[in-house]
Amino acid sequence: MDLFTNMCQPAVAAAESAQHSEAAALAARLGLSLTEVSDATLPLLLVLTPTHLEVRQTGANSPGPVRVDFVAGALDYRRRHGGGKNQALARAVGLKGGKKLVIFDATAGLGRDAFILATLGCRVLMAERSPVLAELLVDGLARATADPIIGPLVTERMTLLTGDSVDLMQTKALGLTPDVVYVDPMHPTREKPALVKKDMRLLRLLVGPDQDAPQLLAASLAAASKRVVVKRPRLAPAIAGPAPDFAVTGRSSRFDIYLTK
Ligand SMILES: C[S@@+](CC[C@H](N)C(=O)[O-])C[C@H]1O[C@@H](n2cnc3c(N)ncnc32)[C@H](O)[C@@H]1O
Repeated sequence: MDLFTNMCQPAVAAAESAQHSEAAALAARLGLSLTEVSDATLPLLLVLTPTHLEVRQTGANSPGPVRVDFVAGALDYRRRHGGGKNQALARAVGLKGGKKLVIFDATAGLGRDAFILATLGCRVLMAERSPVLAELLVDGLARATADPIIGPLVTERMTLLTGDSVDLMQTKALGLTPDVVYVDPMHPTREKPALVKKDMRLLRLLVGPDQDAPQLLAASLAAASKRVVVKRPRLAPAIAGPAPDFAVTGRSSRFDIYLTK
């Protein structure tokens, strides 16, 4: 564990012996150690189960496991009851009428915002620089693609790149010009861990705070043809750099909008 950022690398484990060789290959690919699923000496485990890949925090009072799941749970509920184009995220990216936007999600994380944007009709190219999160996304996308209900939507509208979005945008490696670049960096927090949702707690342990958000904003402003949208905690200051043109405030977040046209 890094004492300054609290970040830590997980070890890889197979939930059952049948996944052992696949787990060993995953550990080798990610440069992580391989351990037993019962190992509680490390704070985080990346566990390959018969059905999916998940991250588990070990120890007493740990929150439940986290995986990327577009098929069931909170994202499925949000897809069916999420408020459509009136929700703050839709207004922030500028969705109106039948407009089909091309969005580059520069901070994919667990892919939740990307999925919501795809269900609203956007084509979403997303990038994630944490190799562990990228593996979780690949696993979640594969399960979603095989689902009869959301499979076609995910196949047509969601694509993942692994790498740093600043590099990808600066080297023109996106292969398209996005209408909107969407940025949701991990912000430092003073909140007590128990008050932070389990997904965010785990993300924070895996990737730490994104200290380079100002560079990401600058690269995004050069890449977006219409606007850059930055998600912030409701009361947090804007990212260092040019001031946003306006903001859309939702229940728990604020979206700062920078027009580039
Ligand atoms: C707060 S999370 C994003 C959550 C995401 N919006 C969701 O809905 O699940 C921030 C993520 O962005 C990633 N990230 C930050 N800066 C990045 C960059 N320059 N390139 C690629 N990924 C980046 C981090 O590794 C982290 O996984």
